[in-house]
Amino acid sequence: MKKIAIGNSTLLTANISLGCMRLASKSVDEAVTILNTARDIGIDLFDHADIYGAGKSEEIFAAAMQKSAMSRDALFIQSKCGIRKGCFDFSKAHIVASVDASLRRLHTDYLDTLLLHRPDTLFEPDEVAAAFDELETTGKVRYFGVSNQHPLQIELLKKSIRQPLIANQLQFSIMHTLMIDAGLNVNMTNPASVNHDGAVLEYSRLHDMTIQAWSPFQYGFFTGVFLDNEKFPQLNATIDRIAEQYGVKNTAVAVAWILRHPANMQVIVGSMDPQRLQDIALASELRLTREEWYEIYRAAGNILP
Ligand SMILES: NC(=O)c1ccc[n+]([C@@H]2O[C@H](COP(=O)([O-])OP(=O)(O)OC[C@H]3O[C@@H](n4cnc5c(N)ncnc54)[C@H](OP(=O)(O)O)[C@@H]3O)[C@@H](O)[C@H]2O)c1
Repeated sequence: MKKIAIGNSTLLTANISLGCMRLASKSVDEAVTILNTARDIGIDLFDHADIYGAGKSEEIFAAAMQKSAMSRDALFIQSKCGIRKGCFDFSKAHIVASVDASLRRLHTDYLDTLLLHRPDTLFEPDEVAAAFDELETTGKVRYFGVSNQHPLQIELLKKSIRQPLIANQLQFSIMHTLMIDAGLNVNMTNPASVNHDGAVLEYSRLHDMTIQAWSPFQYGFFTGVFLDNEKFPQLNATIDRIAEQYGVKNTAVAVAWILRHPANMQVIVGSMDPQRLQDIALASELRLTREEWYEIYRAAGNILP
């Protein structure tokens, strides 16, 4: 699989990673098969959060790692914190306690990356800085990043923290393109021109933050999967034709479409199906043409000005 550096860090990892949000519903034996498949196809970064399955995803992952005798050093483990039941919480106490709990569940003594999951409007940058300093000096976290944050929120954080923020995890897929729609419709009055995210795509490129694209196959906020979905006939006909041309499955085209963007994103796939993961892996090196990329974008219902 093609490797990319996350931000300007030394963390060199495959451009497709495995999201473990849905691992909570699997048995340890099923998780072993999923992890072995992921490793065999070249996936080396595993994305977690303290809240996935209320901690169960991290526990099952650890049990599967142990059962399959996977070496901790051979993979990158990322987790997230900051979402609590009914509120968001970037207080120092919560961040540090959340990491400690994740480490216990994951049976490891360090996270490769910690992301702040969703912006907490009550956050104090100095408190986050104190939490990051403690987690870094105790060796519990190697790198830090954010998720679902816009550029000014990141700038506000940067006012206090010393560590570089290497990644921003954001929803992005063929059917969720707000990040690029506004840039294609600058100074126009149509709905696509609305800037929803403070130009986070351009900001990330300027500041060497890797965008980790979550939910590459979903439309809406977990409304459903757009592939093989009769609600999107033109889009699926276009994707299927291009997939056939390259001899890959539609999932590979959907991921390759994200990877074709020069922002050099990392895609976080959430499939727990070993065969589907193998199909998706072919996207890592598949480079769509400019014409194919724009054809898919238009087939998703977007109109170029
Ligand atoms: N930072 C954030 O706020 C945030 C939010 C959400 C998610 N995430 C991260 O992103 C990861 C991926 O999210 P996701 O699971 O929603 O992403 P996804 O890869 O878009 O969706 C995967 C899900 O779609 C199902 N699916 C059904 N039909 C499919 C088809 N034809 N092609 C592909 N998938 C199909 C998969 O089932 P099978 O298992 O049967 O393949 C699986 O349940 C999560 O695990 C998590 O790590 C982050």
